[in-house]
Amino acid sequence: MADILLTVEDLCVRFPTDRGVVQAVNGVNFQLEQGQTLGIVGESGSGKSVTAKTLMNLLPRSADVEGKVTFDGRDVRELARKKEDHFWGVQMTMVFQDPMTSLNPVKRCGEQIAETLRYHLGHNKKKAIAEATSLMEQVGIPEPTKRVRQYPHELSGGLRQRVVIAMALACQPRLLIADEPTTAVDVTVQKLLLDLLDDLRRDRGMSMILITHDLGVARGRCDEVAVMYAGRIVERAETETLFSDSRHPYTNALLRSIPRIDQPSHTRLDPIPGRPPELIDPPEQCAYAPRCRYAQTDCLDSIPEVGGVAGQHIYACHHPANTERGEAALAANLAAGETATGLKIHAITEGVH
Ligand SMILES: Nc1ncnc2c1ncn2[C@@H]1O[C@H](COP(=O)(O)OP(=O)(O)OP(=O)(O)O)[C@@H](O)[C@H]1O
Ligand SMILES: [Mg+2]
Repeated sequence: MADILLTVEDLCVRFPTDRGVVQAVNGVNFQLEQGQTLGIVGESGSGKSVTAKTLMNLLPRSADVEGKVTFDGRDVRELARKKEDHFWGVQMTMVFQDPMTSLNPVKRCGEQIAETLRYHLGHNKKKAIAEATSLMEQVGIPEPTKRVRQYPHELSGGLRQRVVIAMALACQPRLLIADEPTTAVDVTVQKLLLDLLDDLRRDRGMSMILITHDLGVARGRCDEVAVMYAGRIVERAETETLFSDSRHPYTNALLRSIPRIDQPSHTRLDPIPGRPPELIDPPEQCAYAPRCRYAQTDCLDSIPEVGGVAGQHIYACHHPANTERGEAALAANLAAGETATGLKIHAITEGVH
């Protein structure tokens, strides 16, 4: 078995607010091997960024965190308590959706990368700037000696994100968390940035968590994909298995909602009805049930446990798709024209939707 770099056990994150306690992450478990890329997908509000920020120790103080995170045998939350400065940004780093969240608008790009090197690795100024220039070159920024002296606003969005990637890579991290790293750029630049991350990961043997709301992006880039819904991982499998033999009806619905090659880009082909649930005082039932084509009365009685084959393909559903039990549930709902939650449904004709 390959070396495990990161283990997340029973992670729960709650935010007390004026309206009540937001249950943002509700018992997330996963492991990441050395050199592996895990995709985390799911709709807006499903808890992807909160999970990432918990790993990066970036949550506001008000957040209530439970569970255990282990990185290369070390307890990450213990490192946070000890205010271990040279862990985040060194061993584990993160790239955000908007490069301007990470960049200082009034500092030259090169200096910002150099600062990371000086703070964490103790490089002197000259060495740090030389290394920053080399890093800019490694991430494919043309004319790095000129760019190193420029301010973020003088660069295009795609180049700015490359600067952020260079900064994240400066200290040779073992894990890079990329949270929607390409959402703010156009499709061509998106591909270039994702190719770059792929190359860097391979060259450096780095592990990566790639967060995206787009299953199409996760495919081809990730070894494994975890699907999040309402703060839980509802399905996780090797990427190809997830795409060819998905079990959770939510994954199925997400797959039907992604654009196909033969469709104009960004057409939502078969949107998922309804909205994700409230995370304050959620009922003790499957959170997806109100939107699920497979829902039966037992889905309203309890939150489904995670089943399947541990370490290979897991899913939390009472009536999994592509199983006899699930397809019988769907057939019964189609015959009735509605599900146990009253959702009106009709048959989807393959190739037309
Ligand atoms: N500081 C906070 N205080 C209160 N609630 C919060 C806080 N941060 C996040 N949340 C809530 O936690 C839930 C999960 O948010 P999160 O940002 O992880 O979603 P996401 O999956 O990253 O969505 P997106 O695709 O839009 O980025 C949301 O309901 C969000 O409103
Ligand atoms: Mg997010």
